[in-house]
Amino acid sequence: MLDFTFYSPTKFAFGRDTEKQAGTLVREFGGSNVLIHYGGGSVVRSGLLDRVKSSLDEAGVRYTELGGVHPNPLSDLVYEGIDICRKENIDFILAVGGGSAIDSAKAIALGTLYDGDFWDFYSGAAAPQKALPVGTVLTIAAAGSEGSGDSVITNKTTMEKRGAGGECIRPKFSILNPALTQTLPAYQTACGVTDIMAHVFERYITNTTDVEITDRLCEAVLITMKNEAPKVIADPNDYEARANIMWAGMVAHNNIVGVGRAQDWNSHGIEHELSGLYDCAHGAGLAVIMPAWMTFVMNHNVMRFAQAAVRIWGCDMDFTYPERTALAGIKAFRTFLHNIGMPINFAELGAKEEDIPALVEKFGIGDGKTGGFVQLDKNDIAEIYRIAAHAEL
Ligand code: NZQ
Ligand code: ZN
Repeated sequence: MLDFTFYSPTKFAFGRDTEKQAGTLVREFGGSNVLIHYGGGSVVRSGLLDRVKSSLDEAGVRYTELGGVHPNPLSDLVYEGIDICRKENIDFILAVGGGSAIDSAKAIALGTLYDGDFWDFYSGAAAPQKALPVGTVLTIAAAGSEGSGDSVITNKTTMEKRGAGGECIRPKFSILNPALTQTLPAYQTACGVTDIMAHVFERYITNTTDVEITDRLCEAVLITMKNEAPKVIADPNDYEARANIMWAGMVAHNNIVGVGRAQDWNSHGIEHELSGLYDCAHGAGLAVIMPAWMTFVMNHNVMRFAQAAVRIWGCDMDFTYPERTALAGIKAFRTFLHNIGMPINFAELGAKEEDIPALVEKFGIGDGKTGGFVQLDKNDIAEIYRIAAHAEL
C-alpha cells in the first residue's frame, strides 16, 4: 500500500426529508446570503426548490437564484454566476441538483474569489487555493461531486471538457435524500450507476500490490451496484435500493476506496471528449469506453481482471487460460450495462467513427503518454475509440 493523507470533511445529512435541514446547515457553515444554483428545471417541477427556499427562509438566510445549468455544465453560466456573487455579496453557494449543478457551483465559488479567468483552474494555468463555501442538495446518484474536491466544466468556446481539483471546493455539507432520486428517468438512473462503477474501476484496476482492504471495499461497491441497479430500473420507487445506490455514489468518489493505490483515470479522460463533443451523458459515454479500455489494457495484468471477473461477476476461474476469465468479466460488465439500458458502442451512443482523429486531437496529449495503470499514447487512445465504436455483446 502507498502512503497517503486522507481528509474528507464534508458533513452528510442522509435520509427522508433531509432537505428541510438546508437552512440550518447553511447557517452552521457561516452562510447568510446564498446563491441557489440549479439545472434545467427538474428541481422546480418536483417542488424541491420550494422546500429548500422554505428551509432557508425559516433559518433567516437570504438568497438569489441562478438556474439553467446544462448537463455537462458550460462556462458561460459560470461567468454569469461569478458576476452575481460579486454584485450581491454572496457568501455561500447551494447547489440543488446533480453533478452538473454542483460542478458549476464549485466553478463559480472558485471564480468569485479569483482575479483572473476562472478557466485558468481548468486549463491547468492556476491551482485552486480558495473558494466560497459550497453545499449541495443532491438529486441524482452519479458523479460523486457531493463528496469530492473535483469539478468538471465544458468551455463554451472550445467545447473542451476539463476538470479542476482542490480541497477548497469540497462541499461543506451535502444533503442526500434517496427519495429525491425517485423522479429520475430510468436512463439517467442507469447513467449514474455506470459512472459510480467507473469511479470504482478507475481505482480498482491498479499496479499497486497488497491493497486488500481497498480491493474489498471496491468490490463491495461494485457488487452493490450489480445487485441494486436492476431493482431501481424495475421499480423507480424502491427507496431502499435508491438509498444504497446514493451512498455508493458518494463512497465511490470521495476516495475512501482509492487511497493507498495508484489510479488510472484514462477511461474518464477518453470519455470526457465524447460528452464534450456530442453532449451525451457522461455515464453513457463511460458505458461505451470503459469496457473497451479494459479490453485494450487487460494483458498488462490479466490476473487483476480475472480477480474482478471472479469476485464481482461470479465467473469461474480458468487457471490454464486466465485471460478467458478476464474476458468473461469484461463481457459480464458490458452485458450488465446493456441490460440496464446503456449504449455499448458508438452507434448506440450517437458517436461517429470518422470523428476519432478529432477526439484524439482534443484529448490533447500530443506525443506524450498518460495513465496510471498502463501509459497510453495517442495511437492507443485511437485504438480504444475504435474498439468502443464496434463493441458488441
Ligand atoms: O437539469 P435538470 O432539469 O435538473 O435535469 C437533470 C439532467 O437533465 C436530470 N435530473 C437530475 N436529478 C433529477 C433529474 N431529473 C429528474 N429527477 C431528478 N431527481 O438528470 C440530468 C443529468 O443531471 P447531471 O447533473 O448532469 O448528472 P450527473 O450527476 O451525472 O453529472 C454529470 C456531470 O458530472 C461530471 C460529468 O462529467 C458531467 O459533466 N462529473 C463530475 C465529477 C466530479 N465533480 O467529481 C466526476 C465525474 O466523473 C464526472 O466527470
Ligand atoms: Zn465519472
